[in-house]
Amino acid sequence: RIAVMRAGGLALALRGDPVARLMHRPWRLDPYPTYARLRADAAGQGGVARSRTGIRAVASHEACTAVLRDRRFGVRLADGRMPFDPTDDASTGGDPTDPEAALLEPIDLSLLGLDAPDHTRLRRLAQPTFAPRRLEQYRETARTVTGRLLDAAPTDGPFDLVSTLAAPLPISVISELLAIPDVDTPRFAQWGRVVGAALDGVRSVRHAHALSRATADLRLLFADLVERRRADPGEDVISQLVHALDEETLTLDELVSLAQLLLIAGFETTTNLVGNAVRALHASGTWDDLVADPGLAAGAIEETLRFDPPVQLTARFAHSDVELGERTVRRDTGVLVLLASAGRDPAVHPDPDRFDPRREQTVAHLAFSGGAHYCLGAALARMEGEVALEMLAQRLPRLRPAGRFVPRVATVLRGPRRFGVRAD
Ligand code: HEM
Repeated sequence: RIAVMRAGGLALALRGDPVARLMHRPWRLDPYPTYARLRADAAGQGGVARSRTGIRAVASHEACTAVLRDRRFGVRLADGRMPFDPTDDASTGGDPTDPEAALLEPIDLSLLGLDAPDHTRLRRLAQPTFAPRRLEQYRETARTVTGRLLDAAPTDGPFDLVSTLAAPLPISVISELLAIPDVDTPRFAQWGRVVGAALDGVRSVRHAHALSRATADLRLLFADLVERRRADPGEDVISQLVHALDEETLTLDELVSLAQLLLIAGFETTTNLVGNAVRALHASGTWDDLVADPGLAAGAIEETLRFDPPVQLTARFAHSDVELGERTVRRDTGVLVLLASAGRDPAVHPDPDRFDPRREQTVAHLAFSGGAHYCLGAALARMEGEVALEMLAQRLPRLRPAGRFVPRVATVLRGPRRFGVRAD
């Protein structure tokens, strides 16, 4: 009863504050009605909604695109400091357990946490990894790995789609991309989960410890890889980066952070994409359409990215006072950019709450963000999602939800932690 009363009290307190709701569990489980409310609120407030505590959010496709493309906004503060720098008491501004503050707490995100010119230099170094020629090579890996994982899937009872396919597939592809030998998949998955969860802020001492252990392990792994590639270079991304290291266009710390980013950016996101796609195909009654025509996989992935994207939001900070709609966003003020809300904006996506794998998106969704930080792995993620859906439909046509769908309770990443299915 106490839990119900507390939830009731929270509901009451947050009723008038939809921006703050995004960070609380009951609304995170289905954030889409909150996004709709925010789009409506923001329309009446010059395009920018504001929480009682001062957090600003943009929710329409137009306003999100404008902020992402506007060079007066960056991922750091105007003077280059990280927002809420934990080493700077003045900038943490209050209660460290406050979920709204935790949301913006920094972890080392390499490119994702850098503005130009460092961002431009590092991004250029990482780009060749994602060249189209490489993509075909990774597609072969994705097919082989998916085939092997599906061979091992039970055909006579329930199983978890996440641990059976959606998590190990991206781990294998990233391991190939980074050319990590003999990858220890469960350990790798554990690191990715701990570091990925930090995108939502570090909310407990236990998590802080797990995070520092995972980061230390990863640094060891990548430092070791650097040495091996220096002695015996290959075609992989680390070998290319070692070259840059030797030419002094990159530091060892930057290399390790970049490798770490590639690991976390491409793991949980892709897992969520596969999970959210299978869920939406079933909920909308279009799974059988995919089975009848596995060529629909690419459309289903694109529609999932619009309808229920793995990364729900990002944040930007104004580097000078910026007029946005009818409002001024003051220098060093943060703005949440609600990527997932943009995908449901009826101004650009007709009948937005309907999942339709045959939809022609005349305006592209923002699931991969936009502007300078547009996802480097977008083509890779699309390819992995497509291979997974196509092969699931061909190999397990009777696949259906069975048992529990356990959601991840996060604000930034959205997808299943476990997804019970069966295929008999
Ligand atoms: C950046 C989404 C898969 C590598 C981003 C951003 C988003 C995103 C929203 C930009 C965040 C911002 O603007 O603040 C996704 C989704 C994925 C996915 C939804 C899967 C469905 C991948 C994969 C890789 C990858 C597979 C590579 C292995 C990156 C990198 C960045 C990035 C390196 C940083 C780019 C920069 O800051 O310049 N991703 N991503 N992503 N993503 Fe992805």
